[in-house]
Amino acid sequence: MKKKTVIVTGGATGIGKATAKGFAKNGYNVVISGRNETTGKELSKEIESTGAACVFMKVDVRKEEDVIRLIDETVKKFGQLDVFVNNAGISGDNGSLLADCTTENFRNLVDTNILGTFFGMKYAIKAMLKTGGGSIVNLASIAGANGLVYAGQYVSTKHAVVGLTKVGAVEYATQGIRINAIAPGAIKTDILKAAIDAGSYSEESIASIHPMNRLGTVEDIANGILYSGHLINLHL
Ligand code: NAI
Repeated sequence: MKKKTVIVTGGATGIGKATAKGFAKNGYNVVISGRNETTGKELSKEIESTGAACVFMKVDVRKEEDVIRLIDETVKKFGQLDVFVNNAGISGDNGSLLADCTTENFRNLVDTNILGTFFGMKYAIKAMLKTGGGSIVNLASIAGANGLVYAGQYVSTKHAVVGLTKVGAVEYATQGIRINAIAPGAIKTDILKAAIDAGSYSEESIASIHPMNRLGTVEDIANGILYSGHLINLHL
């Protein structure tokens, strides 16, 4: 069977890194994109050493031309794009209530979390329509379904990710493209560290609002992304 190909944006750290490794273990060609060439290339070498095909591409998801190049080059190298994981995102957390948030911070969140997700969906859908379909997984958040104090700007961008996902899912449902979102609770990664460092929360206070009384792990979420994105039928 022909190997399938996945792109994971922001794939060199945190949830994206665990997801990239998970797809590689399940036989996919893996394209990791991100802004930091050093960490990206280190991870692609680590994954290649397991026998999987893996490349890193330097991409800023706020730039439409970068996302177009990411998808074009992936299709050129591996023949087609099967799964696209729209994972790159920022919290933009600075411990401010709404009235104290800056417009500059919000613009960066909108550019990264909303427009970045939109660009990924737009060009992944165009590529998948040419080859008979695929699967897109967007990273939403519990912040995409609830109001959270000190996180108004992030919360609104993740609600937008949920909206884009719902519209994409119904628009392409009959054309072989599944579009889903994963909505993690608090996971111990750099994004959360930024919120803790900003003084918005402590690790204990975040854990206490989760029924399991612990933060999630990157593997918890990568498993959900793989379940959602995986295109190879399980034997029943
Ligand atoms: P992370 O900070 O380790 O990962 C985010 C990745 O996105 C980083 O590699 C970062 O460099 C990359 N990125 C940010 N801006 C970018 C840009 N303009 N262009 C390209 N890459 C860019 O944090 P984590 O937790 O792994 O986040 C992954 C996704 O999960 C994000 O979308 C985040 O909003 C979401 N999420 C995380 C939660 C958590 O508690 N950690 C909870 C809910 C959702």
